Amino acid sequence: MNNLNRRDALKAGGVLAGIGALSLSLFSAPPRAQAWSWPASGSIAGSGNGVDPMTVWDPAADQVMAAVLDSGQVPAINAKLANWTTNNQPTPTGLPAELTAFIEQARQLPSWTDQSKLAAADDFNAKQGPFIGVGYGFASGMLATAIPHESRAVYYSKGGANMEDRIAKTAKLGYDLMAQQPFGPNGHMIVTCVKTRMVHAAVRHLLPTSAPWLAVATESPKIPISQNDILVTWHSLPTTIMSKLKAWKVPMTAAQSAGFLHAWQVTAHLLGVQDQYIPATWDSANAQSQQVLTPALGPSKEGTAIADQLLTLGPVLAATSFITKPMLGSFTKFVLGSQVANWIGFQTDPFWDGAFATFWEPFVGLYELGEIVPGVNAIFFTLTEFIKAAALLYLNNGDLVLDIPVPTTNNPS
Ligand code: HEM
Repeated sequence: MNNLNRRDALKAGGVLAGIGALSLSLFSAPPRAQAWSWPASGSIAGSGNGVDPMTVWDPAADQVMAAVLDSGQVPAINAKLANWTTNNQPTPTGLPAELTAFIEQARQLPSWTDQSKLAAADDFNAKQGPFIGVGYGFASGMLATAIPHESRAVYYSKGGANMEDRIAKTAKLGYDLMAQQPFGPNGHMIVTCVKTRMVHAAVRHLLPTSAPWLAVATESPKIPISQNDILVTWHSLPTTIMSKLKAWKVPMTAAQSAGFLHAWQVTAHLLGVQDQYIPATWDSANAQSQQVLTPALGPSKEGTAIADQLLTLGPVLAATSFITKPMLGSFTKFVLGSQVANWIGFQTDPFWDGAFATFWEPFVGLYELGEIVPGVNAIFFTLTEFIKAAALLYLNNGDLVLDIPVPTTNNPS
């Protein structure tokens, strides 16, 4: 194992194994500046136990994954799970019994899944795919680098050593969800979520043994990916994207908006978020986002490094001759504001700063009407090519079946 001795590993495993029993009184300081006050009455469950999600992890997944990591079974498990990719495939045989039991339970859609809402989400993705895709890439993808907890976890975990591969794998969840019927028999989303839940549990076991992560982590106790952390990232996804789509005046029906939320509610459940924390409505999501996402944003050296790598990624810059790093910086600043752009250290292009501010909204309207005439209006043509290229960057691997193996080490560098 990397960066740890066996005693430390067992200690970390013990912390996690006992986490379900932790009570708030064990924390020397309150976990957040203002006490957790988001009402569980606004959740899918409709009620809750009032426990702050900063003090809750995922005991079911954590116990199983700690055991298989400590017994060295993960490489064999990864080999067995590599071909398990589609929702209707049975759980592979030959896995440890506890892991099989966990997966069988974790792959069940929640009882509250509403197929008509999921159909409306399909309709929304089909009609507004380019703008939703831009939202995943430039709202959520970039915002993640302004979430220090997440940036540090990513940077010091195994995937931090190969950022291009790591980003492709994480984007997989976005494009699996944008595919038609992602939770249906031929979709991939259930498998992707269950594997991600397993990876997150493994990271919770491994990262508390990384000296560089321990030196910078501000979690209390120092265990990453709490339920609160997942909610923070969740709000950087659907909540942020919906607010941007509305700001850009992307047309949508009430059913499409509710469908998009529902697809993400199901995703949260499959990622191990408890129903008492999953917002039932957009109003409730926006209120929760104020409490969890807004205070979690800020600069970090790890976030700046990841953001720079995101902008430097080969495919988008190589795919077109006109997209430059400062242009992508300008778009990020336009989408997320100058404070976030400053936090993550982006250089922008003065021309594109102005062009996005002036032309993006009219461009969205014209794009919807199909009135872009190449060559007639150079800026609008460039914006059309821009969103195609952005979609290419974030969505072109949609047909690829990328595996999501469970890591066995932290970032070795
Ligand atoms: C892994 C998605 C929340 C940290 C992954 C993977 C996906 C994913 C698809 C697998 C790809 C890979 O292995 O690289 C999500 C989604 C989230 C979420 C959709 C919330 C809605 C978080 C949070 C953190 C985090 C809150 C940290 C605070 C990580 C790390 C890995 C990972 C460290 C493993 C990287 C490695 O291989 O070393 N996540 N994640 N994730 N995630 Fe998340």
